[in-house]
Amino acid sequence: MDKLKKGVFISFEGIEGSGKTTISRLIAEMLMTDGYEVLSTYEPGGTAIGQKIRDILLLPEHKEMSYLSELLLYNAARAQHLKEKIMPAIQTGKIVITDRFSDSTIAYQGYGRGLDFSLIMTLDSITTRGLKPDITILLDIDIESGLKRNKGINKIDRLELEDIEFHKKVRDGYYKIVEAEPKRVKIVDASQSIEKVLQDVSDIIKKALSC
Ligand code: TMP
Repeated sequence: MDKLKKGVFISFEGIEGSGKTTISRLIAEMLMTDGYEVLSTYEPGGTAIGQKIRDILLLPEHKEMSYLSELLLYNAARAQHLKEKIMPAIQTGKIVITDRFSDSTIAYQGYGRGLDFSLIMTLDSITTRGLKPDITILLDIDIESGLKRNKGINKIDRLELEDIEFHKKVRDGYYKIVEAEPKRVKIVDASQSIEKVLQDVSDIIKKALSC
């Protein structure tokens, strides 16, 4: 049974180890149990081609990758993801939950790498054709705890190997995104127990779905 007349687009954002993957999947399961049709997906990846781009982006030995190549590859993965998965699901009235979307590019390539914002926004408008999430959950955690969590599950990729200063810029960048769009982007304290994080996130999403 599909309870929605039109699709809803939800993204999860946050620094490394903020718990986006676990929380976004649990929320997707919860909504499916409630009778919604849900597509649960992620970036970079979410498609076979996107997964290959992800591998290129995140391999630790690709140290010589230029920031511009990095930006273009994230956009390429997103364009494929939108065409194959996100747009068809939204058009058939599903709830789409994605673990990362354009805000990651603004936070990591914009605030983190220091690439020009007008270039990032121009590329984003070409890639997404203006599609923005209806609601974005920013799972916020301090940098040391996040990196420690990921080390605990042996997750190491090229961007995680950046220094603390880089991750600090990314986290501060996310705060600036919240400041600019407080209606769309909601912060949840990800250092709380998983039960409390889930409760906070589900309250925000249920409120958004009832509007
Ligand atoms: P993940 O491990 O959370 O799936 O994300 C993969 C890495 O890619 C993570 O370090 C964040 C980074 N990333 C960007 O730098 N820009 C982007 O646009 C996206 C989607 C991810």
